[in-house]
Order: sequence, then structure tokens, then C-alpha cells
Amino acid sequence: MSSDPLQFAVQHRQRFYNELFDFLRIPSVSAKSDHDEDTYKAAEWVAAHMKAAGLSAEIVATPGHPVVLGEWRGAGDDAPTILVYGHYDVQPPDPLDLWHSPPFEPDIRDGRIYARGSADDKGQLFLHLKALEAHLATRGSLPVNVVVVAEGEEEVGSPNLVPFVEAHADRLATQAVVISDSAMFGEGIPALLFSLRGLAYFEIHAYGPASDLHSGAYGGAVSNPANALARLVADLHDPEGRITIPGFYDRVVEPSQATLENIRGLPFDQGAFMGPLDVAPAGGEAAYSILERLWTRPTCDVNGMLSGYTGEGAKTVLPARAMAKVSFRLVPDQDPARVKDLLQAHVDAATPEGIRFEVRELHGGLPWRANLEGPYFEAAVRALEKGFGAPPVLTGEGGSIPIVVEFERILGAQALLIGFALPGANMHAPNEWFATDCFERGIDTLIHLYDEFPRGR
Ligand code: BES
Ligand code: MN
Ligand code: MN
Repeated sequence: MSSDPLQFAVQHRQRFYNELFDFLRIPSVSAKSDHDEDTYKAAEWVAAHMKAAGLSAEIVATPGHPVVLGEWRGAGDDAPTILVYGHYDVQPPDPLDLWHSPPFEPDIRDGRIYARGSADDKGQLFLHLKALEAHLATRGSLPVNVVVVAEGEEEVGSPNLVPFVEAHADRLATQAVVISDSAMFGEGIPALLFSLRGLAYFEIHAYGPASDLHSGAYGGAVSNPANALARLVADLHDPEGRITIPGFYDRVVEPSQATLENIRGLPFDQGAFMGPLDVAPAGGEAAYSILERLWTRPTCDVNGMLSGYTGEGAKTVLPARAMAKVSFRLVPDQDPARVKDLLQAHVDAATPEGIRFEVRELHGGLPWRANLEGPYFEAAVRALEKGFGAPPVLTGEGGSIPIVVEFERILGAQALLIGFALPGANMHAPNEWFATDCFERGIDTLIHLYDEFPRGR
């Protein structure tokens, strides 16, 4: 048996792939109640796997899907404690017919592991379990104490995680929270995140007449909620792409000069970014570059709309109701509660006669900006450099991981976002993939990370 964790990872690589494939085969779709048993099975898989790696593991029930808590405390009270967070739930795989191989039958093609959850986030959570196993199997110990929090509700807005972290704050006490649930800047260019956007997600319902009506017999005499909602939604942006809700930009902090210079220095290839999308690069604020828009500017997007007749052919109908799912991505110092109030006021002021609008909040999360200093951050920089043979760049992220801000607030710890997916990994889309190269280097990086962390706290 090898005494070097890096060698151990090489020797056991095939087993690692087999195990990851078993994990990916479990359709742990948290949003769908008909997958509740599968989601529980994934929790059990994680717990069993933590134990096999040498951690203690506990499945902690919540009102929703459970949290799996793994611990290794052998480094003693004087050593730091690191908290690793990841999620074992995945997005629904639909639309199924666009997958080239079935979403829950992992398949390696062209150096990519194709499966739902391969990148977001089972594959990345798995890297951590393997790095821990490699240390414990070869040296029998880790230089730091470790707590692993594996969540099963990230993809549905983590409704039970803040109460969980608050209730277990003592047990989760930590100096640094390490999360691998984001992307690198590009192939061979590892990244550490300097920001995540926040989120405020709503349904806007429009109510008109008591029932659907004949659009000839009533059209023109009765307000149409689909027309009214379409107007409301269209008016959320002005022609320059700015959001029109009064007060929406009040708390938006412009990025610092250092952030802008960092962004402008990145080798961003707009053609490569836009090419596969088959769409012209419009629809945002013209004064900002694409990366600035994605990482430093808030957005408002319709995610879905529902009203009236949408089946085959023409049906002349004046619908009784309409609904739009509208989400806002937020940047510091915006917050979802305030955005809700602003949206409500805007909707109230824009309500036409004969229509009733109702705003329902689905979920939200605060935007996050990283502390890019200190020994834990420096450790992550060195580990990535060793794992990938290139120093990490600092990147922002347009997506959201709402618990990050809460971990920092409740536990008083620093979050390190070290993602190993590649851009274009099709998170939430058909044909999600995770590069085998990132899988292997990701494990190496995380093995290095434990050796790079400070030994005292
Ligand atoms: N892992 C993603 C966040 C992410 C997306 C990071 C893209 C890097 C690139 C996470 O699982 C996610 O999908 N978050 C949701 C928010 C949640 C409240 C549903 C999101 O961003 O839409
Ligand atoms: Mn994720
Ligand atoms: Mn996701």
C-alpha cells in the first residue's frame, strides 16, 4: 500500500470512477416528490461512502430531504476545522429526448463524464470524499479536522439549511468553508470565485374574469390577464436593458477598479462563449462587457409563462388567468426581501383596471463577495497551482449558492469557492458533463489543499 495520498488516488482511479458512476445512477431529483426515495438513497449512499472513507456519518432529518453530516476530528482541538459543503440533489433531467445518453446512465465520451449531476454537484462533492479517503487511507490522519455537510435541497432553494446550520452552529464551528460547486475559467485555467450573484424568485399571477371566455363574445369588453401580464413583464426593462422597477439599482455597488481590471485581464473569448448558443449577443446593458454583466450586474428574467390555450391549432379564448415565473439575479448590496417590496410596489402601480396581480415569493438568497485574503485563501491558491500546474485566476459567477453568505454569517468563517466544472458543462441542461481531466486533477488539488492549510488556528 502506498503512503502517498496522490499515488493512492492514481492506484484507485478505476474504483473511483466506478463509485462515482454508482452515485450518478441514483436519480436524486429534489424537486420531484416521486423521486423522494431516490433522493433518500443518495443520502444513504453519501453516508456509507463517508464511512468507507474513514469519517463518521449521520443522516440528519429535516422537514425536507436530509442533510448528511460527516466528521473526522482526529487533528485535535488546536488544529483548525474545515467545513466542506456540497449537494447530492440534482436538477430534473428534462427534456429527456435531447440527451445523447440517458441522464442517469453515466457514460464517458471524449474525456467527459456525461450524466445529470456529474458537474452539479455530485461529481464535485465526490472529489472531496476521495481526497479525504486518500489522506486517511495512506496516513491514517488529516492535518486538520473536517466536517462535511452534504445537502439534498440545494436545487430547490435550500429551504431547511439555514435552520440546520443555526441549530448545529457549535458542531459546525469552522475556520473555512470549502465548496466545489462552480466552474473553472477554462480548460487548464483553474479559478477561485470572488463573487456569486444572489437570487430573488417570484411567480406573478394575473387574474381577469371568473372563467375563460369566448374571445369574440367578450374580447374588447373584458380585460385580458394574458395581455396585462405580457405588458407588465415587457415593461420590466427599458430599451437600454435597464430594469425599470423604481429603486432597484439603489443598493447596487459598482465593482471596484481592481475587480474591473481583473475581469478585463482575463482571456475571455466572446466567440467561444456565444458560438454554441446560436444567438446574437444582445439583451443586456450595453455599457458593460459580457463578463461584467454576468458577474457584477443584476438581472431580471422570465423563466416561464403560462396562460390560455397552448395546444394544437387555434382556439378563440380569452383566458381567466395568466402566470409568469420571474427571477432576479442580485449583486451586493441588494437583498431579496427589499426586491420583493420594490416589485410589489411596482406591480401595484402598474395594475390596469379589471386585472388583479398577485406576487408570490418562491425563494431567494443574498449575493456574496469573497474575502480574497488570509492563510486559507492562500492555501487554496497554492493547492490549485499544484493540481493544475497553473495559478488560479479570480472569477465571478453569475449563478447563486445562497447558503454561502449564511455559512459566513452564522459560523463566522471564510468561504472558499473552488470549482472544477468547465464552462459549457450543461449544468441544469441536457447532456451535463464533467471532464475526466478535471475529475483527476480536482482530487489531486483537494489532496494538496489539506497539506497547504495552516496547522494552527
Ligand atoms: N451549482 C449551482 C450554482 C452555479 C451555477 C455555480 C453555475 C456555477 C455556475 C447551483 O447548484 C445552482 O444551480 N444554484 C441555483 C440557485 C438555487 C437557489 C436554485 C441557481 O443559480 O439558479
Ligand atoms: Mn450546484
Ligand atoms: Mn444547480
